Amino acid sequence: MQSSRTDQHPRTAPTEISDVLVVGGGIIGLVIAWRAAQRGLRTVVADPEPGGGAARVAAGMLAAVTELHYGEETLLGLNLASAARYPAFVAELEEAAGQDTGYRACGTLAVALDADDRAHLRELHGLQQRSGLTSEWLSGRECRRLEPMLAPGVRGGLRVDGDHQIDPRRLAAALVTACERAGVLFHRAFASRLTVVRDRATGVVLEDGGVLTADRTVLAGGSLSGKLAGLPSDVVPPVRPVKGQVLRLRVPRAYAPFLSRSVRAVVRGSHVYLVPRENGELVVGATSEEQGWDTTVTAGGVYELLRDAHELVPGITELPFTEASAGLRPGSPDNAPLLGPTALPGLDLATGHYRNGVLLTPVTGDAMADVLTTGELPEVARPFTPRRFSPAPARQEQLA
Ligand code: GLY
Repeated sequence: MQSSRTDQHPRTAPTEISDVLVVGGGIIGLVIAWRAAQRGLRTVVADPEPGGGAARVAAGMLAAVTELHYGEETLLGLNLASAARYPAFVAELEEAAGQDTGYRACGTLAVALDADDRAHLRELHGLQQRSGLTSEWLSGRECRRLEPMLAPGVRGGLRVDGDHQIDPRRLAAALVTACERAGVLFHRAFASRLTVVRDRATGVVLEDGGVLTADRTVLAGGSLSGKLAGLPSDVVPPVRPVKGQVLRLRVPRAYAPFLSRSVRAVVRGSHVYLVPRENGELVVGATSEEQGWDTTVTAGGVYELLRDAHELVPGITELPFTEASAGLRPGSPDNAPLLGPTALPGLDLATGHYRNGVLLTPVTGDAMADVLTTGELPEVARPFTPRRFSPAPARQEQLA
């Protein structure tokens, strides 16, 4: 096992070959690096700011049941598998890093504010039941008994005791420490180009001119994954940025407990959620905007989030406002991640996690460690092969 160290400049000589190079040090890249190093693989991460990325902005809801959407039944299986791994994952990570991740098994309440919202939530309840999920329909009065800060007009809701939360910033910090302790090397620079030699990915050239060479390269760059130069056109991942603006408020001690679980609703067609942390932070999210690479925090975004959150929980206007930020979800054509080997030998993908990056962190780490040690995706992750987006070869494989 290599010693732990964090480099400002690449020290890996061009001739030094790692087993695994992870391009991207967000939570997905970090969990893969940690799991790979645990399996004895010499692992390197290239990222100018490990622990950054979309997790700096995300609220951290682990909402497999309340975020269920029509047409995402296959993804549901992966989401549930990852949710089930969370308690053991957190316990192992906190032990390995010696850091708290802010995991809170608090449950979620999804509520309706008017007749349309109520009909929408009834539909969701039906879909959850048909999918074998556990959720309980509550009247407006029962919702307010659980969460007294809810608006008097709440018309009903769904209680989901299995949808929890984690603090993604703390999760990322713990993963950085766990990686360092497991011997992962960090190169704090952007990967600017994939190197391909004799039809095999061999690593990357960094923007500072450094060269990293590895037996396997894992592209885990979130919404930026498709931007890496040198990717052959048939393996460029079809990911796009989907902007989310998020607010952070603080619940003064005198107001606690303001909310005891995550609360969410669809207000005039927009999703709004409030995620209360044990440390007093209250996260309000999130917009969903197809705006390309723009990460501007806009007056309109802040206004809409506060307006909708205020309709849900009027008392939020009393709380100190601490932060507004915007991040980019890595959207994919079917809203599900791309995991595992590509058509280019030596290159694997772990990207496109869209709304579920935090939830899918444990299962992604395990699945990619399997890929890196056995060459095969485990059963639970097989539907998410990137090859589902490569028309001709994939179809031939299926028919064979
Ligand atoms: N999963 C929450 C969001 O993407 O806004």
